[in-house]
Amino acid sequence: MNILAIESSCDDTAAAVVKDGRTVLSSCVSSQIEMHTIYGGVVPELASRKHIEAISGLADKALADAELSRADLDAVAVTYAPGLIGAVLVGVNFAKGAAMALDLPLIPVHHVRGHIAANYITHPDLEPPFVCLCVSGGTTAIVDVRSYTEMEIMGSTRDDAAGECFDKVARVLGIGYPGGAPMDRLAQGGDDLRYELPLAHVTGHELDMSFSGLKTASLNLIHNAQQKGEPLDLPSFAASFGRAVSQSLVPRAMAAAKAKGYGKVAVAGGVAANSRIRADLQAACAQSGDQLYLPELRYCGDNAAMVGCQGYYEWQAGHTAGWELNAYATRDI
Ligand code: KG4
Repeated sequence: MNILAIESSCDDTAAAVVKDGRTVLSSCVSSQIEMHTIYGGVVPELASRKHIEAISGLADKALADAELSRADLDAVAVTYAPGLIGAVLVGVNFAKGAAMALDLPLIPVHHVRGHIAANYITHPDLEPPFVCLCVSGGTTAIVDVRSYTEMEIMGSTRDDAAGECFDKVARVLGIGYPGGAPMDRLAQGGDDLRYELPLAHVTGHELDMSFSGLKTASLNLIHNAQQKGEPLDLPSFAASFGRAVSQSLVPRAMAAAKAKGYGKVAVAGGVAANSRIRADLQAACAQSGDQLYLPELRYCGDNAAMVGCQGYYEWQAGHTAGWELNAYATRDI
């Protein structure tokens, strides 16, 4: 079954063709980062306009790269939530048009489910149930993946997402947008114990997380150093920050894995590319005996291959949509 998949929930326009849920025949991503960089963050209206310009050509390229024609397609899958509403609407409307014109089923895919499915591409042996730590610019949650299409949030952030926290701190440091990858690179060679940063704890909800205190403490530390004219040891600050984020995420993911007892832990989303988090998860799983699944770096960030992969399992479960399908800024997994 060949699925044309579309993703446009934030600042990447993406199209892919995926065969039978696991084989990526093509994956095209057009990033808008350069345009948003000058504003220090994604400007929603500009993102929507850029998606409109890119989406049609990108879908054609995905077909050409897969060496298929439109007649070879069996369904169209699309991210319908969550995301920037104008941006998601572009993808949903394009997918509706394509499905209608080609007389194909339309499959709505939740963006976070897509991130989780990126693991199926990298690990052909991975099957639910497993526990997945989902960390991106908009989401930070620990998910009980009971089956391909039955999932439950076990814990999540009460405020900022981990990626958002990386981005805001990096912006104040002036090291670029989005800030996660440059912070990660900067942290190499830094002393992760040099700066003490707070770790939040949500009493009574042990698997929930909070990053707003870490963000504020980091911004205050940077501001105070600037005011006093004291140079910040940037690599050590980035390493200390990475340690704090990882210490909020990894022990909770492991506690969730222990509670479920599946013996399998996965990670998903843009922040899953972080080297500290990957290393800490590796060490924790080596100790607990859980099997760890890490997605390839190219499938951590937003892409459409993950949407095509999850779309296949949604289709198998009978989750198709009619032309009334809407886009949503927020939606339960
Ligand atoms: O999954 P994604 O591409 O978009 C969303 O669905 O949100 O994630 C983007 C986020 C950004 O916040 C970016 O700074 C972060 O992923 N990110 C990283 C790294 N690479 C990307 N954060 C930490 N370390 C990285 N290496």
